[in-house]
Amino acid sequence: MASYDVIIIGSGPGGYVCAIRCAQLGLKVACVEGRDTLGGTCLNVGCIPSKALLHASHMLHEAEHNFAEMGLKGKSPSVDWKQMLAYKQSTVDTNTKGIEFLFKKNKIDWLKGWGSIPEAGKVKVGDDVHEAKNIIIATGSEPAPLKGVDVDEKVVVTSTGALELGKVPKKMVVIGAGVIGLELGSVYARLGSEVTVIEFLDAITPGMDSEVQKVFKRMLGKQGIKFIMGAAVQKTEATKTKAKVTYKLRKDDSEHVVDADTVLLATGRKPYTDGLGLDALGVEMSERGMIKTDEHWQTNVKGIYAIGDAIAGPMLAHKAEDEGMAAAETVAGKHGHVNYGVIPGVIYTHPEVANVGETEESLKEQGRAFKVGKFSFMGNARAKAVFAGDGFVKILADKETDRILGAHIIGPAAGDLIHEVCVAMEFGASAQDLAMTCHAHPTYSEAVREAALACGDGPIHM
Ligand code: NAI
Repeated sequence: MASYDVIIIGSGPGGYVCAIRCAQLGLKVACVEGRDTLGGTCLNVGCIPSKALLHASHMLHEAEHNFAEMGLKGKSPSVDWKQMLAYKQSTVDTNTKGIEFLFKKNKIDWLKGWGSIPEAGKVKVGDDVHEAKNIIIATGSEPAPLKGVDVDEKVVVTSTGALELGKVPKKMVVIGAGVIGLELGSVYARLGSEVTVIEFLDAITPGMDSEVQKVFKRMLGKQGIKFIMGAAVQKTEATKTKAKVTYKLRKDDSEHVVDADTVLLATGRKPYTDGLGLDALGVEMSERGMIKTDEHWQTNVKGIYAIGDAIAGPMLAHKAEDEGMAAAETVAGKHGHVNYGVIPGVIYTHPEVANVGETEESLKEQGRAFKVGKFSFMGNARAKAVFAGDGFVKILADKETDRILGAHIIGPAAGDLIHEVCVAMEFGASAQDLAMTCHAHPTYSEAVREAALACGDGPIHM
C-alpha cells in the first residue's frame, strides 16, 4: 500500500493534466488507468484518431476537387484503408506514449487497473488499496445508449467502432447531427460513402448560432451528406453485414426505413462512473447521472473531487483540462479558477466551425442589446487563394460598451482563429480593441479583425 497527496482516477485530458499540475505544485501523485495506454477516450478513441482520419480524408478531397485547378495534374490517390488506419494508430501511439513520458518526467505513478473508492481517503486498484489525502475523479464519459439501437461495434457502431471499421462502407447512416456525427460522417463522405444523417431536431448542431447552423448544413449538403431532419430513430435491425434503420418523422408520425452497411450512433454521451462505488460513499449525483460538485470541484464527500465529462458542463477535452489544472491548484491550497463563459467549441470538419460565448439567440433571450459584426471569407485574400472563401466570422458585442460577448466562425482554421477572440474576451476587450490590433497580411485572422471592424465603422474589404 502506498500513500499519496492525490490520486486521480482516469488519465484522459482532465486526469493527466490534473496529475501533471499536481506534481508541478509539489504533491505526491498517482493516476489510475485501466486501459493499456494513457490518454483516455480523447487520445485513444476520440479527438486524436478522428483528427487523423479527418486530415487524411481532407487531403483526398483536395486532390479530387482542387488539385487540377492549381495545375497539379495526374491520377487522384486511391484509399488504402488499412494504411490509413495504421497512420491513425501511429498518431494515437505517439500521443499516448508522450503522456507516459510526461508521467515519468513528473514522477507520477501510473496505477494500472480500474479504480474504486472503498472509503474516503482510499483508492482500490486490483487487490491493492492506496491511501490518498485527496481523490480526484476524472473518469469521463461513454456513448449514451438509444432505445431500440443495439450497438455491436461492427455494423451498428459508436464513435469507437467508427474509427476501426473493416472497410469504408458504401452506405452509412448517422443517427444524430451533433459534433461526432458530423465529424465522422464527413470523414466517410469524403472517402466515398453515401452518408445519410438522421436528426431529431430541425437544425443540426444544437445550441449553435442559428446562422452558422444553416450555412454549415448547406456546405455539408454540397459535400454530398444527406440530411433527414425532424426524425426520431425508433430502432435498428442488423445482420452481420447490413442494417435497417427505422425512423419516424415528427411532422406527420410517418414511419420510414433506410438501409445501411454501417450505422453510427451519435446521440450524445453520458458520464462514466460505473464501478467507482459512489453510491455506497453517498456521493451526490444529478438526475442526469453527473457527479455534483461545488465551485471548487469538491463533491459532498470531503476530499473527493470530480472534473471533466463526469460533472456538469460541456463534454469537451479542454474544459476537462482546465478543470484538472484548477482542481490541482485547489488541492494544493491555491485558488483554481475556470472561466466557464469563455470555453470555445470547435467542430473539425472542413470547413471548421468554432464558437465562444453568447449566440444571437441567447442574447435575445436575455433581452440584452448587442451589435453584430460580420465578415465573409470571400473578402479575405488568403482564404480565396486556397478555395476557402465560403463561410464567415461573426462577432457579437455589447451595444453600449462594445465589449465582446461572443464569436462564431465557419471557415478555414476556425478552430485556431477563435482563440484570439477568447483571449480578447478574457481581457474584457471591446470589438474596437480587436479592430485596432495590427493583423498580418495575408492571413485568415484578418477576417476576425474585419468582423471586429464591422462592429464599428465598417470592414474595409466588404
Ligand atoms: P451531441 O449531443 O452533440 O448531438 C447529438 C444529436 O443527436 C443531437 O442533435 C440530438 O438532437 C440528436 N438525437 C438524439 N436522439 C435522437 C434520435 N432518436 N434520432 C435522431 N437524432 C437524435 O452528441 P454527440 O455528437 O454524440 O457528441 C457527444 C459529446 O461529445 C458532445 O458533448 C460533444 O460536444 C463531444 N464531442 C466534442 C467534439 C469536439 O469538440 N470536436 C468531438 C466529439 C465529441
